Amino acid sequence: MQLDDQSIVASVARQYPSTVKIFQRYRIDFCCSGNIPLADACERAGQDLQEVLTDLRELARTEDSTGWDDKPLVELIDHIITRYHDRLRQDLPALGELARRVATRHGEANPKLREVETVFARLADEMLTHLRKEEVVLFPMIERLENRAVLNSDDGTPIPPIDGPVAAMEDDHREVGDFLARLFQLTDQFTPPSSACNSYRGLFQGLSELEKDTHQHIHLENNILFPRAQQLVAQPDPRPLALS
Ligand SMILES: [Fe+2]
Ligand SMILES: [Fe+2]
Repeated sequence: MQLDDQSIVASVARQYPSTVKIFQRYRIDFCCSGNIPLADACERAGQDLQEVLTDLRELARTEDSTGWDDKPLVELIDHIITRYHDRLRQDLPALGELARRVATRHGEANPKLREVETVFARLADEMLTHLRKEEVVLFPMIERLENRAVLNSDDGTPIPPIDGPVAAMEDDHREVGDFLARLFQLTDQFTPPSSACNSYRGLFQGLSELEKDTHQHIHLENNILFPRAQQLVAQPDPRPLALS
């Protein structure tokens, strides 16, 4: 893959998964708004295009480019659930409790911590509902599409169109991205003051990790899983036509 100023950010992240670290370092959006040329993305993020390109090329040179493009979707879904969804269900309540404690203890000195607590609570609610919708509605539809198109095994009952659920999940992702951007602002880019106690530091560290993980999680869904599932819909049904 030719890497230049017109390379699409989401495609680079898809082909060379480790470049995600570079996009995160430069705060270039590769998940929710990744379908734009690198030059535009750098301008949006206020970064030097040549510097970013040099780092990307260096990494891509040594990267094994076998990502999720060739693996079964059922494997990708399983990875998303075990690596991201299960971990969120475990981490969000603990992080919410930490945000509450830090806001109670230090909210008077820094009122922004109270807003951190509120924004985080809304983010956690939104995310937990979102995970359920994916696991109960969209992912099973994608698994059936793959069974039908690739394995030619399915019970034959109609599969509802996936475009609506995909668009709804993408809307949710944008909302989650907005909450994370707000937390980034409120916490001075997840930088605690030098006098901060361990809980304060732990909260900011946890929020920073949550942001990185969520960008990667959304990238796997928006840029790989959903487009590949939509391609399956475009394929003709491989089952033989009934003659009577
Ligand atoms: Fe997800
Ligand atoms: Fe999602």
